[in-house]
Amino acid sequence: MQLAGRNIVLGVTGGIAAYKAAELVRLLVKEGASVQVAMTEAATNFVTPVTFQALSGKAVFTDQWDSRVANNMAHIDLSRAADALLVAPGSADFLAKLANGLADDLLTTLILARDCPLLVAPAMNRQMWDNPATRRNVASLRSDGVVILGPGCGDQACGETGPGRMLEAAEIVDEIVAHFQPKLLAGKRVLLTAGPTFEAIDPVRGITNLSSGKMGYAISRAAREAGAEVTLVSGPVCLPCPRGVTRIAVTSALQMHTAVLRRAADNDVFIAVAAVADYRPAQFIEQKIKKAQCPTPPTIELEQNPDILGEVAALPRPPLCVGFAAESEKLAEYAESKRRCKKIPLIAGNLIGDGFGGDHNTLVLFDDDGQHPLPPAPKIDLARQLVARIAALLEKRPC
Ligand code: CTP
Repeated sequence: MQLAGRNIVLGVTGGIAAYKAAELVRLLVKEGASVQVAMTEAATNFVTPVTFQALSGKAVFTDQWDSRVANNMAHIDLSRAADALLVAPGSADFLAKLANGLADDLLTTLILARDCPLLVAPAMNRQMWDNPATRRNVASLRSDGVVILGPGCGDQACGETGPGRMLEAAEIVDEIVAHFQPKLLAGKRVLLTAGPTFEAIDPVRGITNLSSGKMGYAISRAAREAGAEVTLVSGPVCLPCPRGVTRIAVTSALQMHTAVLRRAADNDVFIAVAAVADYRPAQFIEQKIKKAQCPTPPTIELEQNPDILGEVAALPRPPLCVGFAAESEKLAEYAESKRRCKKIPLIAGNLIGDGFGGDHNTLVLFDDDGQHPLPPAPKIDLARQLVARIAALLEKRPC
């Protein structure tokens, strides 16, 4: 329930993507938001108000002169109760009206009268989106402080392909959730590693581990929500890249090492979440090893991989370094000894079993102030708490 207690006014304008707004209402309500829908007249040609009423549990407003509002001030009442005003889909025509401050129906009037943030998810044909008039309107909306969500790129209802599609409902919900997070890392650059590494033995076999990458991906999302510019160096996982995060895909520990060391000095924070293989096969066998050619089981000689976190922490002007310690026992002892050995200010420890592969975890943060247990919670919640701790340490850090 990431939007519990939030009041959102959803404006729906006339475009085929209005059908996606129905799913959007469902997902917003599922996250705990209270949703009041206001539709333009054009929107009612695509989806009926009854659909939105059923999904939001509230009568839908379409008319400026709605007699249900005793003082006839629906445009004021609706926006005063809102934490955010979201328009999805936002048609090209509607963007033009907003950019020019028109107020000739209920939705444009309540937007003009608002005293809360406005987010708009445009939806239109690619050429309408590329039209200089739309570009101008979007630029002036942005400079007025309106948050433009997307648009996405891909197949369009008209049969063409390109930019202009409305973001998917789930992506819009993520953007709204992110919007409400405190911008604790605004202006900061954060580099992370996540996932396992894969150390090849031959073209089809290798050494890896069971890291799902979920914790690292959650932290990169939380850092992005907090306003940071985020680069995620990821080992092989099957997870979508969080919106707004730059992902660099790597396979082996050596590749991860190169990708990180190339960027580390340009970042304010480095968070090593990856389960990096400590060893790799000393030799890569070019052709697949055949049983018939091995009279006895082959022996694989290993050599040590570089300690990525240790090397970043030892840079002359290191970013604030954060490590992870996944242990099967003696969590505090091992986590603290890793923190000392690697000379890092903060390490997050967890007991394997508490979170490996799942969507929940339990963490204990270890820093100079002692231990800070973070009780069991969804990984994204823990990630946000970790980000808050990192922001506090950054503030205390001498320049
Ligand atoms: N780490 C790293 N590079 C490595 C190994 C680990 O950056 N080659 C990082 C991990 O991302 C994590 C922390 O170091 O943040 C874990 O410390 P480490 O002592 O290397 O952990 P383990 O490899 O789990 O050590 P051990 O097997 O001894 O418990």
